[in-house]
Amino acid sequence: MFKLKWLCSISLIAVFPYSLNAAMADQPDAVRTKVQTLCQVCHGFDGVAILAEAANLSGQQKVYIITQLRAFRAGARKDPQMSIIAKSLTDADIENLAEWYSSIKVTVEGPK
Ligand code: HEC
Repeated sequence: MFKLKWLCSISLIAVFPYSLNAAMADQPDAVRTKVQTLCQVCHGFDGVAILAEAANLSGQQKVYIITQLRAFRAGARKDPQMSIIAKSLTDADIENLAEWYSSIKVTVEGPK
């Protein structure tokens, strides 16, 4: 199951860069590489989750993303996958990744 999602995300790498919005295109290459190597396989390059159990992150509040990543890193919030990934993140990584995902614009349609 997970391997299949991984393969799907590899094919998305080839397609997604051409549909970037301006905010994402402005991000430094180092952050883009972190997103592609550490987050994209589950949360998507554009923050729309590929893994069903992972949250959509596009347009999420920056402070919320920072709080959650720090909580995973500190062990206050636990998840078999996120706890491991968050351990490898520096404060600067957390700031940059939160900026990346929070800066992606989303539109919503309210309830009728
Ligand atoms: C292997 C899959 C996987 C990868 C890779 C991954 N995540 Fe996650 N992430 C998850 C899952 C699953 C959850 C939900 C955890 C839970 O239920 O508590 C999650 C939760 C989160 C949350 C909390 C969302 C919320 O709504 O509370 C944030 C923020 C997050 N991930 C950011 C990241 C970032 C940034 C990266 C890259 C550094 C990353 N994740 C890489 C699987 C992944």
